[in-house]
Amino acid sequence: MTKQKVVLAYSGGLDTSVILKWLQEEYHYEVIAMTANVGQGEAELAGVAEKALRTGASRVFVEDIREDLVKNYIFPMLKSGAVYEGKYLLGTAIARPAIGKRLVEIAEQVGAAAIAHGCTGKGNDQVRFELAVKALNPELKVVAPWREWAIASRSDAIAYARKFDIPVPVTAEKPYSIDSNIWHISYEGGILEDPEREPDPEMFRLTCAPEAAPDQPELVRIDWEKGTPVAVNGAALGPVALVEKLNRIAGRHGVGRTDMVENRLVGMKSRGIYETPGGTLLAFAHRELEQLTLDRETYHFKEAVALKYAELVYYGLWFCPLREAIDAFVAQTQETVTGSVTLKLYKGNIIVAGRRSPETLYHQGMATFEADALFEQKDAQGFINLFGLPLKIKGLLARAREGEAGRREVLRR
Ligand code: ARG
Repeated sequence: MTKQKVVLAYSGGLDTSVILKWLQEEYHYEVIAMTANVGQGEAELAGVAEKALRTGASRVFVEDIREDLVKNYIFPMLKSGAVYEGKYLLGTAIARPAIGKRLVEIAEQVGAAAIAHGCTGKGNDQVRFELAVKALNPELKVVAPWREWAIASRSDAIAYARKFDIPVPVTAEKPYSIDSNIWHISYEGGILEDPEREPDPEMFRLTCAPEAAPDQPELVRIDWEKGTPVAVNGAALGPVALVEKLNRIAGRHGVGRTDMVENRLVGMKSRGIYETPGGTLLAFAHRELEQLTLDRETYHFKEAVALKYAELVYYGLWFCPLREAIDAFVAQTQETVTGSVTLKLYKGNIIVAGRRSPETLYHQGMATFEADALFEQKDAQGFINLFGLPLKIKGLLARAREGEAGRREVLRR
């Protein structure tokens, strides 16, 4: 009987290497490894294919999905304004459906029966991967070794690796968990679990400390077309290059760090630290441009929609009808979100330094305190009378009742 195939989301680290072997030993699967290049960087990707083959994979796919991730996941999310719990720009959450989609495509290509991942049973990422698989190919089984095996610690994993000749990394493991892609790096767990403890300054990889940033501010201009960023300082850039460039610019000014306690989908609170340098600039500039170009009701409605969108992304519900419907609404709102925003970066801060748009709804003549022809100041009186009518009626009735109560009180005495 030929073996069934499983496609494993493989990072090349100790955990997924042990999982690779374990899938062969326990399930007698033929294992196909899939590593997504999501912009985690050369260092993390180096030698990953050879390592998978040496550990026993029958085939390896190293898939560069950066363009797909930025264009089809991150930018639509950016347009929506989604930010989870006011702080998290969703860097890990948004990458999972993109990776999940490629896992499913490869599973279909090689005729696999299952998909496997190295997420633990306490996190959000297992949900995000598995909801993507369910939505895109519900026939595929999912194997999540962390939820079923006996390996409970790093030393267990090392012992297992030694037994099967899997190379164990010589460098000491970081005392926290890291997830890195083109949009962000997240750090959580281990020594970061204490929310009273500041992270060590050496932990950060994309941003310098604000106090170590240059004493001179830097201006950066971002140009937008219909809600999509298209150029930095006048140079047109594709999605991947644009985010990379903004990561460098924001990073050298200490912009884009977040430290928060968030509500996980699986119930508990967790403490996370994020570096999202370019994304922080993009989210800031996008909001500036919308404030210039969207009418009041659309802008306010969109703010409410953004909260929902952030939940959908965080919960792993990317491939759901509501997200698609909201995207259609958001796309409509972005028709006029074209123009430029200039930001000043200074020691961890972003200060808006200017915005312009051919679609602006801001009318200097209207806002001015000088006399003008369009706005008839005496109209404001009638407007306030009708706008305030419910308040006036309520006040009058309350007074009348007080008056009656007062009269009854007099009679009782
Ligand atoms: N708490 C964040 C989220 O749920 C980051 C998760 C990081 N994942 C990881 N495997 N290190 O999106």
